[in-house]
Amino acid sequence: MTRATTLTVLGIESSCDDTAAAVLRLDGDRPVILSNLVWGQTGLHAAFGGIVPEIAARAHAERVDLCVQAALTAADVTLDQIDGIAVTAGPGLIGGLLAGVMCARGLAVARGLHLVGVNHLAGHALTPRLTDGVAFPYLLLLVSGGHCQFLIVHGDDRFQRLGGTIDDAPGEAFDKTAKLLGLPQPGGPAVEACARDGDPARFALPRPLLDRADCDMSFSGLKTALLRARDRVVAEHGGLRIQDQADLAASFQAALRDVLAAKAARALTLYHALSPLRPVFAVAGGVAANGPIRAALSALCARSDTDFVAPPLALCTDNAAMIAYAGGHRLAAEQNDAMTLSVRPRWPLDDAAPAMLGSGRRGAKA
Ligand code: KG4
Ligand code: ZN
Repeated sequence: MTRATTLTVLGIESSCDDTAAAVLRLDGDRPVILSNLVWGQTGLHAAFGGIVPEIAARAHAERVDLCVQAALTAADVTLDQIDGIAVTAGPGLIGGLLAGVMCARGLAVARGLHLVGVNHLAGHALTPRLTDGVAFPYLLLLVSGGHCQFLIVHGDDRFQRLGGTIDDAPGEAFDKTAKLLGLPQPGGPAVEACARDGDPARFALPRPLLDRADCDMSFSGLKTALLRARDRVVAEHGGLRIQDQADLAASFQAALRDVLAAKAARALTLYHALSPLRPVFAVAGGVAANGPIRAALSALCARSDTDFVAPPLALCTDNAAMIAYAGGHRLAAEQNDAMTLSVRPRWPLDDAAPAMLGSGRRGAKA
């Protein structure tokens, strides 16, 4: 790769159930997204009530090169104009990761391009810089279908995890709640819509780990408590009435919101101790789309003189523009993982922090 002041990067993402490709132009510090395609697989997995890794892997293998071609066309560039490739190398489902990395390696060899492997979580964590040019250090809550963690982002490769979930991720809890209440998937938007007409105080659901002074969270007990509450209502009335459904959804959402807001307050205190010039708290991940959760976090920031940054939803959820951006600094420095690049299904962002389920250990949706 010859060094270019302007760098055009091809990004590839296939760590879970979205095949994604993007073209990003980096002109100094100013990134411009030329194309950003996400080909979801929801329909392929719908009948199974969850993501089937083998089906996901096959779909990625069948589609990833077509998705790359479509992203190049949408950006109106050819491979000749690409300066380097950034591909998600982990954490995630091994079959999907392999499909993306093999595609990227093939292109890199055929075209003599530099290639870098990117941590998917770094892609999410650096998105506030891509969308809003946020300066280091900033506080980030990554809250998605497979992850929930508070990170201080110190640099392109320097992440400090303050805490995270010790069991389920909030998106997973939303999806399971939807299932329990007979609502469609993905559960988050369905539960949020249903909760609008509900009474959040009708069911007293637990707010786990608030007695602990750290930033760790737990959501599996909340799910069990919701199941019990639902079963009590069904036993009493012979079924779930519309109002019961709404009250259960609202009570669940309020409990989850309260836990995230309380732990965010603790994370903010730790972050403020660094005396950042302009404090910023950013969110990323699908659950960041939730209105009441967003409102609670935004109100917390307003009370603590901190800017609240929530990137547009299409860049909060899985995409390849964030991968191209997260690999950009390494490509600009002419680094090249080339043929030694392999996949890392488990790849925590902060190696110094103790391992937890939320750091990608299960290889679940990140
Ligand atoms: O970030 P994402 O698209 O995928 C990964 O997990 O990587 O997040 C998907 C998760 C799903 O569990 C979905 O139910 C949840 O985000 N979600 C929401 C909302 N929209 C999506 N959860 C709560 N409220 C929403 N409005
Ligand atoms: Zn993700």
